[in-house]
Amino acid sequence: MKWGFGYSVVFSTLAVLFAMPSFAQLNAGATRPQVPLPEGPLRNIILKNCVSCHGIDDYAYHALEKDKWAELLTNLHQGMNVKLADNDQALLLEYLATTFGTESAPFPRKYIPAEITTFYTDVEGRRDLDVICTECHELDRVYETRASLARWRVLVVEMRQRGAFLPDDENMERLIEWLSRVQSANLFE
Ligand code: HEC
Ligand code: HEC
Repeated sequence: MKWGFGYSVVFSTLAVLFAMPSFAQLNAGATRPQVPLPEGPLRNIILKNCVSCHGIDDYAYHALEKDKWAELLTNLHQGMNVKLADNDQALLLEYLATTFGTESAPFPRKYIPAEITTFYTDVEGRRDLDVICTECHELDRVYETRASLARWRVLVVEMRQRGAFLPDDENMERLIEWLSRVQSANLFE
């Protein structure tokens, strides 16, 4: 009885280990970095100054030392109202250089489209547009655009990088595929 129990524990542990996807597989599906909001005083500095236009996950696309971080932020935000008090800026740069410094690997930007086997109906596609896309702009933007599947993919992935709520790769790919049908590049289709 005792032995039998131990035996089955070993077996079920092995089964769990083999069922777990390898690190590479997990990574292949992760097309967006996930960055937790830091704790402490920096949390409010970021909430106050840094989240009105885009999320903080984008920081993970970079791996830089402190002065390069300062340079990048200046260059990217030219002409925008992104200005921190000196103390706050120092804290932010310290965090960026520590969390996304030269020893870390920048998150790969490449988007690997998820494979899909079920496809959006018009109702499902319109529902996503209504819920997700109207967060930032009118749907005219979408309905005035006609594009190929590849171009829609670029556009929608860009919207996600801007902050559109598209956490599920398969649903995003369904939306992209649907857009490429209803807003196809071929006007005579
Ligand atoms: C007024 C809007 C706005 C605010 C506020 C803002 N950003 Fe940005 N940020 C942008 C835009 C727009 C871009 C993209 C610029 C480009 O691609 O040329 C960007 C790009 C970035 C990038 C590069 C992202 C990437 O994909 O490579 C980082 C990092 C960044 N911002 C950090 C910050 C931090 C830190 C703060 C707060 C101090 C901040 N941003 C506040 C508008 C803003
Ligand atoms: C977080 C804000 C945000 C959300 C959410 C968002 N967009 Fe956008 N979108 C923008 C901004 C900002 C622009 C203007 C970009 C520019 O002019 O450079 C834009 C522009 C566009 C354009 C025109 C692009 C072009 O080059 O002509 C299309 C098409 C578009 N969005 C589609 C979508 C779709 C589809 C969704 C929903 C899946 C969506 N957007 C959700 C911010 C957003």
